[in-house]
Amino acid sequence: MTVVRIWAGRRRAPRTGRLAAPSPSRARTRPEPVLRPEPDVDVEAVQAAAEEFLQLFHSEDPRRGAVEPRLAQVRREIDLTGTYWHTQAELTFGARVAWRNNARCIGRLYWQSLQVRDRRTVSTAREIAEHCFDHLREAHNDGKIRPTISVFAPETPARPAPRIWNEQLVRYAGHQQPDGRIIGDPRYRTFTSELVRRGWRRPVGAFDVLPLVVETMDEGVRMFELPESAVHEVPLEHPELPWFAGLELRWHAVPVISNSRLVIGGVSYPTAPFNGWYLGTEIGARNLGDSDRYNLVPEVAERMGLDTSDESTLWRDRALVELNRAVLHSFQTNGVSVTDHHTESRRFLVHLEREERAGRSCPADWSWIVPPMSGSQTPVFHRYYDTEDQLPNFITDPDATHRALHGSPPAFS
Ligand code: ARG
Repeated sequence: MTVVRIWAGRRRAPRTGRLAAPSPSRARTRPEPVLRPEPDVDVEAVQAAAEEFLQLFHSEDPRRGAVEPRLAQVRREIDLTGTYWHTQAELTFGARVAWRNNARCIGRLYWQSLQVRDRRTVSTAREIAEHCFDHLREAHNDGKIRPTISVFAPETPARPAPRIWNEQLVRYAGHQQPDGRIIGDPRYRTFTSELVRRGWRRPVGAFDVLPLVVETMDEGVRMFELPESAVHEVPLEHPELPWFAGLELRWHAVPVISNSRLVIGGVSYPTAPFNGWYLGTEIGARNLGDSDRYNLVPEVAERMGLDTSDESTLWRDRALVELNRAVLHSFQTNGVSVTDHHTESRRFLVHLEREERAGRSCPADWSWIVPPMSGSQTPVFHRYYDTEDQLPNFITDPDATHRALHGSPPAFS
């Protein structure tokens, strides 16, 4: 999309949103009109965001030395091209701080350990898919899950970045039946039917891994089946209830979010899949428990022989606990990293303290941090948090969210 139009010096809100405001002192006169690619680039906003990021990087890492030489270089590059290329060290720091700043994540204690895979020069859809499959294998690491991010090409004025449509690299299809029932994950029922419309064929099961959908400017929309070697799953059983295994439930070992945009210093990376390890409740309380997901609480309660005729027996709560015990137990016996919400809550408070000691504010969204069960039993419930967003960060764009759930609209048509 190398649309060349007349640059009329208009100030536009950057498409990337939430960038630092352009600083008035940096305003400069430019000859008008000038031919420039992509009219949406707000050069001053990019300059300001780059400067803010580089200052942060150099101030947090004394080994970096003075920031001015790098700043001068980046300013020139932005003036010429509308963007700039991060050094590997900047990319690594930026990705780690994006995690540190992500207000929804309870697992941020280990932000400095994030493994950053620089894949910015990979360009074909097939290669992108292959590198994502490698990501899954490397991050799984025989069950000792490594928090990992793969950063693909940035958005530039000359060339739009590739996109992954899927919400995560591994997700299960939702197959709508003629009687209205859904086999699989109802969250992805319209995504699944859109892929079927585009030619995807699969037997109808409850845990069918969706193909990876990669869209590039040159190739359009392409689908790739995940190889078995990339998909690690844990079959679920309960430590005491023998019938539980008969439900034939499973879940994938590594949650790799693939439709969030990584924003570092005025540069956007829309394809930057990243993972941590699971908190048990994400699977047991939400994916398997939510009534609009696998909705397993009534069935588990039934099998447990609970009295479901009256809410005040708290059959939902009791069944939910056993479902969650099954998840934690199965991951543990399979040697796959997982944590429980009590442990992770305490770790998060350690993280908050460390951030405070480092003189930083730690943005946190209470409604995401507090676990979906037994909230008041965890220390994160009993306090307030800083809420102001900070960059670098991971940003969820509405069109990317829509694509991940409904398989539309395409990014480039
Ligand atoms: N909640 C999402 C899921 O159940 C995963 C989100 C990221 N979670 C994580 N532990 N890094 O798949």
